[in-house]
Amino acid sequence: MLGKKVPSVTFRTRVRDESIEGPNPFRWEDKTSDDYFKGKKVVLFSLPGAFTPTCSTYQLPDFEKLFDEFTAEGIDEIYCVSVNDAFVMNAWAKAQGIDKVKVIPDGSGEFTRKMGMLVAKDNLGFGMRSWRYGAIVNDGQVEQWFEEEGFSDNCESDPYGVSSPQNILEKLRDAKVQAA
Ligand code: BEZ
Repeated sequence: MLGKKVPSVTFRTRVRDESIEGPNPFRWEDKTSDDYFKGKKVVLFSLPGAFTPTCSTYQLPDFEKLFDEFTAEGIDEIYCVSVNDAFVMNAWAKAQGIDKVKVIPDGSGEFTRKMGMLVAKDNLGFGMRSWRYGAIVNDGQVEQWFEEEGFSDNCESDPYGVSSPQNILEKLRDAKVQAA
């Protein structure tokens, strides 16, 4: 994906709307790839599933903790995408106390498939999910790419290292030094 544009898709999100009465004041809001990526430099990271252990214990909370260090390096937003629907992604972000990182629901897997990162996880009863990766995306174009090793269907392990926030931050800083 290095140097390529992220795919143009429409994500079906759920947003809070105080004008809606009752116990569930949320409505559907469609957001496009342009809404998320156009004119911004962002970190995108993708993982196999909301509420899964590595993602919940390390990857998502560590991106949240390091958010200000990323913005100091010129990052406007950090996006966490997963092949999960908007209800699950919102519930996960709430359960994790996340308010800086934005979660993106790719429930249909269309974005992940077009990124070339869709893998079977039938061995875990998950169906099709995302391989774990990260990227620096500048105005929709992938500038840096951090894909975990061993891309494969029904992988028995869950590699986690190059797409960690600590590694991505380090490589972002290295790229800045090299460009100076
Ligand atoms: C994990 O994040 O630890 C995990 C992800 C996918 C499947 C199982 C575990």
